[in-house]
Amino acid sequence: MTTQEHSVPMVSWPERGETRSARWFSESGVAPPRRVIVADDRMNADRAYRYACEGTAMLWRGDFNNARALLQAIARRVDAKPDGPKPNRMQRKAAPARAVVADGPFDAPAAGAGNTEGLPKAGGAPKEAFHLFRMAQAQRARILGMLLIPFDAGHAIPLRRAPDLHKACSEARGPCDSPYVSSLRELLGAVGAHQWRRKGVEVAALDDRIHPHYGVFAPVRGEYVDLVDSAPLAVTDLAFDIGTGTGVLAAVLARRGVKRIIATDSDPRALDCARDNLARLGYRNKVEVRQADMFPDGRASLIVCNPPWLPGKPATPLERAVYDPESRMLRAFIAGLAHHLAPGGEGWLVLSDLAEHLHLRSREELTGWFAAAGLAVIRKHDILPRHPKAFDAADPLAPARRAEVTSLWRLAAAPVQTA
Ligand SMILES: C[S@@+](CC[C@H](N)C(=O)[O-])C[C@H]1O[C@@H](n2cnc3c(N)ncnc32)[C@H](O)[C@@H]1O
Repeated sequence: MTTQEHSVPMVSWPERGETRSARWFSESGVAPPRRVIVADDRMNADRAYRYACEGTAMLWRGDFNNARALLQAIARRVDAKPDGPKPNRMQRKAAPARAVVADGPFDAPAAGAGNTEGLPKAGGAPKEAFHLFRMAQAQRARILGMLLIPFDAGHAIPLRRAPDLHKACSEARGPCDSPYVSSLRELLGAVGAHQWRRKGVEVAALDDRIHPHYGVFAPVRGEYVDLVDSAPLAVTDLAFDIGTGTGVLAAVLARRGVKRIIATDSDPRALDCARDNLARLGYRNKVEVRQADMFPDGRASLIVCNPPWLPGKPATPLERAVYDPESRMLRAFIAGLAHHLAPGGEGWLVLSDLAEHLHLRSREELTGWFAAAGLAVIRKHDILPRHPKAFDAADPLAPARRAEVTSLWRLAAAPVQTA
């Protein structure tokens, strides 16, 4: 976040008879709001909610804690609407208006991603329900993103009772040498991610904690880690972990005795995060973390990959580990696996079938991709979800969530002889 960057987005607002402006920052890639008014402690929740719904942003000049309370009050109004946030004109064209569904993330979000509590309920075919769920999520984020906070250089917040949040902001946004404006919602995302990073996530398979950085996929759903911890491990010389994220799967393999592991990721935040975690766990000498698009050069006896589970366009950079346009990473892994497996080696693909229950991808498509890449399935190891969403009867997507199975597909390059 330095001022040398070209074409820095700016946000402007009228204040004390003049037009003022500052840099605009949005991790989610939201454009600067076009209409901004100055607001303070006299703003009541109903009026703020109306402004936010109309697309008028409010730059806060009052007490910081009151801004937090106001955001919660706006959220309650969004969530209380029986049909949920109303789609805008473009969205009304794209989908029928009758159903807006679901109230939670489908998967572990990246640290810092906004919360999706309280979205409205309805029925509908799984695919339609999924798309409407995502539209409602986007609409909720848009409304809640209308309360803005000013920052001075060094991420200082020039508001009454504002805490010192420069550490959380620096972790999420990097150093800052000039004032800027950002949404309170994104700020709270950075604060949540900072706390998560400090405390870490318990990982039973490691008997230790993993500390996710801002924007990196967090292993809060332990089932898939347990699959990698328990699948039969025949050869332990060299493994690749493709898309390592926090480094959790590389750490599990190292703990299981794999002598050398090359862990790749394309995201610089994930690379830093994996390096930190692997060093903390004492695996710095066993695991080499490399920036790469999918596979490193060479071949390995074991290649592990946990790609995003749902095909779809990420709405924000923080969703990239959950939504993958046209299953790009999944298909790249399948297509490249045979070229990178050592003779007799195995590929371990970790994948939930939630996309199948939502009619976003079929089992035939998946197995067709295996066949086209010359891969045979040695065995599939399954595990049921344990996370609370799977047991939430009030969730309109409960049938899909309840039916979800996460699998570790053991794949080989050569056809397997069956007895
Ligand atoms: C679902 S996350 C899994 C992270 C970690 N392996 C785990 O199981 O917790 C997918 C990871 O793949 C990374 N990724 C996405 N596309 C990639 C690519 N083309 N090459 C390497 N890594 C990629 C993402 O940055 C992300 O960290």
